[in-house]
Amino acid sequence: MNIITIAGSPSAQSRSSRLLAEATRWLHEDGISTTAISVRDLPAEDLLFANTKSPALQAAAKLVEAASGIIIATPVYKAAYSGVLKAFLDILPQYGFAGKVVLPIVTGGSPAHMLAMDYALKPVLSALGARFVLNGVYATDSQVRTRDDGSLDLDDEIVLRLEDGLQRFSDSLEWSAHLEAGSTLPAATGQLTSLRC
Ligand SMILES: Cc1cc2nc3c(=O)[nH]c(=O)nc-3n(C[C@H](O)[C@H](O)[C@H](O)COP(=O)(O)O)c2cc1C
Repeated sequence: MNIITIAGSPSAQSRSSRLLAEATRWLHEDGISTTAISVRDLPAEDLLFANTKSPALQAAAKLVEAASGIIIATPVYKAAYSGVLKAFLDILPQYGFAGKVVLPIVTGGSPAHMLAMDYALKPVLSALGARFVLNGVYATDSQVRTRDDGSLDLDDEIVLRLEDGLQRFSDSLEWSAHLEAGSTLPAATGQLTSLRC
């Protein structure tokens, strides 16, 4: 399994990125390795001008190309997703997510914009050719807190949603691999056993 994570927030202190890091940590605990892309670390001018010849953007696009699974995190910005994430998705090939399993993680200030994931983000992921775009994990700012010691403090509901999302991600990756191999689909395995906060 080749898993990448894409952090789509331009903020240094990013809730969506912290949620993504938590998901990554749980995957690592289950022996699943991941490679991280953070759009805020990519050259801003290359992103802004869609410079597809940029070595840094090409390197990131190659990571995407090689991935079988992608966990993509973004804040809600103006009832959609972040512009810098869109700038990165724009430089990928037309079907840059072809055959991939994608789990979105989105944070927003208000529960009212939860559907931004379905109406704004998912259509773009589908247009990029993703095989499975899974129901994502949405959290409001009040559900993703930082303790005084800097550690992450998540609402129990978010922990459960994240666990469920990662389990579906794992199962879908297995189904996707079977489809790729042209074999029949197995039952869900429930392989991720050690997920916890
Ligand atoms: C420019 C900007 C636009 C935003 N627009 C919305 C919005 O339309 N709806 C919403 O619920 N939250 C909105 N928010 C709040 C963020 O989505 C929220 O704080 C999110 O958790 C930030 O994620 P991040 O820390 O990963 O960047 C906005 C924040 C910023 C900075």
